[in-house]
Amino acid sequence: MRRGFSIEGKRVIVTGAAGGIGQAVARRLAENGARVALLDVARVADATAAFAADLPGDCRAITADVTDPNALAEAFAAVDTAFGGLDGLVNNAGITRAEDVFDITLESWRDVIDINMTGAFLCAKLAMERFRAQGEGGRIVQMGSVVGHQGALKGHLHYSASKSALHGMSRTLARTGAAFGVTVNTVAPGLVRTPLIDTAHGDGAEMAAAVPLGRLAEPSEIAAAVHFLLSDDAGYITGAVIDVNGGMHMR
Ligand SMILES: NC(=O)c1ccc[n+]([C@@H]2O[C@H](COP(=O)([O-])OP(=O)(O)OC[C@H]3O[C@@H](n4cnc5c(N)ncnc54)[C@H](O)[C@@H]3O)[C@@H](O)[C@H]2O)c1
Repeated sequence: MRRGFSIEGKRVIVTGAAGGIGQAVARRLAENGARVALLDVARVADATAAFAADLPGDCRAITADVTDPNALAEAFAAVDTAFGGLDGLVNNAGITRAEDVFDITLESWRDVIDINMTGAFLCAKLAMERFRAQGEGGRIVQMGSVVGHQGALKGHLHYSASKSALHGMSRTLARTGAAFGVTVNTVAPGLVRTPLIDTAHGDGAEMAAAVPLGRLAEPSEIAAAVHFLLSDDAGYITGAVIDVNGGMHMR
């Protein structure tokens, strides 16, 4: 169903598009007329392709690991060929692990930072290069987190570090992009009902008690904010962090 904010015909890459929030974002964008490239890892390639085929309009799955610069370059080039350009990037791929400072190995630290932070940088770089060359503006939305503001309640040190970094990266990218009409914003969800939150925290009822609105968010509620930031109506918003957290953190 069309919901207002115009993204008709926009060509958008969504990373981590096979996951809970990624699927909701891809669906929301496709249902509102965007052409969506759903990027995710090889492990979920079949599921991503099946999901993309089920979306309305011109949507396609692309396989790449966001930590692999060569695979990303190929994936973005494939989107150039398929869509004839790029209008938006949603840096959504991410992982977390319920580990505390005492348990986190250097390897695990690097895994989380590489995917959540370096992967976002690599994708943003490829998108910014295209936006600058095209000269028609562009949009980047990064998937931050409430823990990027306040830290995690327990453990998840690498994850919270990566999300704070994304918030900061967005602001600097926003200043760079402003010179050629690109906006860069962050959506910072609280607790969202997805596989990531299930593996990270388990009991939904206990988590909901920590949320003033008394429940977890649905992925579609995060997708709504992403849709708005990609739309023409959000053209004067850049460097912002939009909190979608049920009141867990108020600034
Ligand atoms: N679920 C929440 O409560 C919550 C809260 C705040 C922020 N977020 C953020 O939202 C984003 C999506 O989370 P989700 O809850 O949908 O998780 P999810 O686990 O359902 O989906 C994450 C997706 O990222 C993909 N991915 C992982 N590593 C990748 C890599 N190296 N390259 C490409 N893709 C990769 C996975 O295959 C998966 O499809 C993440 O950045 C997460 O940190 C989630």
